[in-house]
Amino acid sequence: MNTYSWNAKDYERNSQAQQKWARELIANLNLTGAEDILDLGCGDGKVTAEIAGLVGDGAVVGVDNSMQMIELAKEKYPPNDHPNLSFQVMDASDLSFEGYFDLVFSNAALHWVKNHKPVVEGLYKGLRVGGKILLRMGGKGDAAGILSIMDELKASPKWAQYFTEFEFPFTFLGVDDYQALLRESGFSIIRVELIPKDMTHDGKSGREGWIRTTWLPYTQRIPNEKREVFIEEAAAKYLDKVPLAADDKAHVAMIMIEVEAEKIR
Ligand SMILES: C[S@@+](CC[C@H](N)C(=O)[O-])C[C@H]1O[C@@H](n2cnc3c(N)ncnc32)[C@H](O)[C@@H]1O
Repeated sequence: MNTYSWNAKDYERNSQAQQKWARELIANLNLTGAEDILDLGCGDGKVTAEIAGLVGDGAVVGVDNSMQMIELAKEKYPPNDHPNLSFQVMDASDLSFEGYFDLVFSNAALHWVKNHKPVVEGLYKGLRVGGKILLRMGGKGDAAGILSIMDELKASPKWAQYFTEFEFPFTFLGVDDYQALLRESGFSIIRVELIPKDMTHDGKSGREGWIRTTWLPYTQRIPNEKREVFIEEAAAKYLDKVPLAADDKAHVAMIMIEVEAEKIR
């Protein structure tokens, strides 16, 4: 299992696109305000704090396997100001909750996990009967544009030396894959869908910010002193393929998988 060295503050500044997507999901949660909720792969905690603001009579726990992310989340959202919100370093494959949550929420995180079986089993165990999961992550065919550029860079004489024994870092599952996982763990399936999504960044610098803060399996192979050049090249190549729109937005075609399921017994 890989744990990358996330720059939590940089991620916080460059993750408006992920936050926007999380807000869409949150808007459809139909919360009563009394739920206990797990935010799995919570990152810097800003989305987790928004959810906590909606469940004054419940509690929200954010977990992430990045120490840097959890440190920032704890610093930004201390218990004195957010009494129903807490954060823990925990790996999605090794969740330690039992019959604890009404809802597990996860946005833009689980495609980082290789094997989803222990994750889904841990989620089932962590829920109360009647509890639900709502997960959104990269799905089958996701991020094809940027991946083809990363492939080009990886193979180029300038960068190939840093990519020996490189293994594809993400798991982009399809509908059948996820349905099987849910059934095997005992879940009752509500909805599993692949959904094309348009991600936007503010111009070239927004695109670079996204690459710098989330494409760590690629960028962290490059020595520090050359990393910015690699990032600029990746962003420039992408903009050659998909130029900025008239409003200066940089668009990325993504494919997400959304998973909703319930623990009925
Ligand atoms: C792109 S960020 C998304 C953060 C947040 N959910 C959001 O919407 O902004 C992906 C997060 O998944 C976390 N992550 C990756 N693999 C994980 C694992 N195995 N267990 C827990 N968290 C993981 C990363 O540390 C990172 O914080």
